[in-house]
Amino acid sequence: MNSWDKLLLGKVAVVTGASRGIGRADALALAEAGADVVITDILIESDENSEKEAEKYGPLAQVMQSTNVMYANQTARDIEKMGRRSVAIKMDVTNKKQVEEVFTKVKQEFGSIDILINNAGTLDHVSQIENQNDAYWQRDLNVNLTGAYNCTKAVWPYMKKQNRGSIINMSSVAGTLGGFGQASYSATKGALLSFTKSMALEGARYNINVNAVVPGIIDTEAFNLGNPNMNERMIQRTAFKKAGKPEDIANAITFLVSDKASYITGVGLNVSGGIELFTF
Ligand SMILES: NC(=O)c1ccc[n+]([C@@H]2O[C@H](COP(=O)([O-])OP(=O)(O)OC[C@H]3O[C@@H](n4cnc5c(N)ncnc54)[C@H](O)[C@@H]3O)[C@@H](O)[C@H]2O)c1
Repeated sequence: MNSWDKLLLGKVAVVTGASRGIGRADALALAEAGADVVITDILIESDENSEKEAEKYGPLAQVMQSTNVMYANQTARDIEKMGRRSVAIKMDVTNKKQVEEVFTKVKQEFGSIDILINNAGTLDHVSQIENQNDAYWQRDLNVNLTGAYNCTKAVWPYMKKQNRGSIINMSSVAGTLGGFGQASYSATKGALLSFTKSMALEGARYNINVNAVVPGIIDTEAFNLGNPNMNERMIQRTAFKKAGKPEDIANAITFLVSDKASYITGVGLNVSGGIELFTF
């Protein structure tokens, strides 16, 4: 076996917001590399309350629920077909009690938790400050930032006891560059980068690596629901003049959580097609 094959054999990963898009691609890539993967999301296709739930979570959740763009159970089955263990669990990252219960259950049933991908995020509030909806400001902070905090705090005692672990926080170029009309989103994504560095410092003594991935424009179901003219303008700002694929993010994550990256911690890795480069 090539030493780059099955890099994550024997590891257990939890991915948040993994019902579609980048989270789903992450889950599949981690399993492909040998990990057992727990899929978590607020939207699970078999959930009979999903319509009511989606209403609670905002317009994007409602569209995805009503058009059946939720593949949590299906992803778990796809992973099982690869010969790995997997399960889809309904989990809202903002619900601290639920998060703690899920991590306790995963530890009991899977034996360890070696990898946490804090991917869950909100992408459906674009508005200039005068019209910023206060409730969405709070929601974005709760999901994108406090959600990552809740999951990190829940997994930390297990990783500390194991004396190993790897955590990835999903940032965004909106967090490094800012985003017009994205005050709440960019503030949370920027904060995740400093959260990553602090956790990297605290985790090093327990061999817990904490890194962030900084995606640019990624061709997901959620991205494609945005204004097409605006999306095209963003794509034209990348050096490659094209959007990235969810798998581009998943590949970077698979490397960062593997032993091949054991000396990397506290970084924010741009996977952005060069959108942040100076072009003219
Ligand atoms: N697509 C892009 O261009 C892009 C660029 C930069 C960063 N990102 C980040 O990547 C991540 C995934 O983005 P995506 O494009 O796949 O979008 P997406 O909307 O498809 O994925 C987000 C997932 O999070 C889930 N979620 C939302 N609120 C939740 C909550 N409270 N608890 C648990 N799960 C919740 C959603 O149901 C969804 O499955 C997000 O954090 C996003 O900010 C995406």
